[in-house]
Amino acid sequence: MTELTSLILDRIRDVPDYPQPGVLFKDITPLLADPVALSAVVDELARLAAEVDKVVGIEARGFILAAPVAYRAGAGFVPVRKKGKLPAETFAASYDLEYGSATVEVHRDAFAPGDRVIIVDDVLATGGTARATVELVKRAGAEVVGVAVLMELAFLKGRDRLEDVDLRSLVIV
Ligand code: PRP
Repeated sequence: MTELTSLILDRIRDVPDYPQPGVLFKDITPLLADPVALSAVVDELARLAAEVDKVVGIEARGFILAAPVAYRAGAGFVPVRKKGKLPAETFAASYDLEYGSATVEVHRDAFAPGDRVIIVDDVLATGGTARATVELVKRAGAEVVGVAVLMELAFLKGRDRLEDVDLRSLVIV
């Protein structure tokens, strides 16, 4: 195990039965509260974001990582938000949840044509959110150079939905 891997895994708290019975929630707040771990994670994600024009963060926990990554990488930050939160004209993409569906949006003018973009989020679970975000970025005229997540939950097979994308996960559990 690398130093970064243990730095991350030692600071992710498992919370049973949240947000519903039977779910083991991966709580990243202990990691965020640790200055050494936070800077190591941001630096590593920023290394993956070298030479991109924009870093996309996915609401809400993705914002926490994506904004400092953009700053560190010298790139701009673009939010992908849940439906109804962005004020100007948007593109929207929906994806299935276990019960029902969810929709994410991006501003239509968020990117310059051909912008190189990396998408950053905290967790890849089923991959629905990341897949929808990839489609949004493409529809808005930018190039997705990769998706980078702090943690990939391998048993949910989100990677299978991103086969056409360069997916990097700092830890896989
Ligand atoms: C979580 C997480 C990812 C997404 C991953 O966000 O931050 O964005 O779920 O799940 P998926 O791979 O199955 O799509 P959540 O919707 O809980 O929102 P939050 O960040 O606002 O808590």
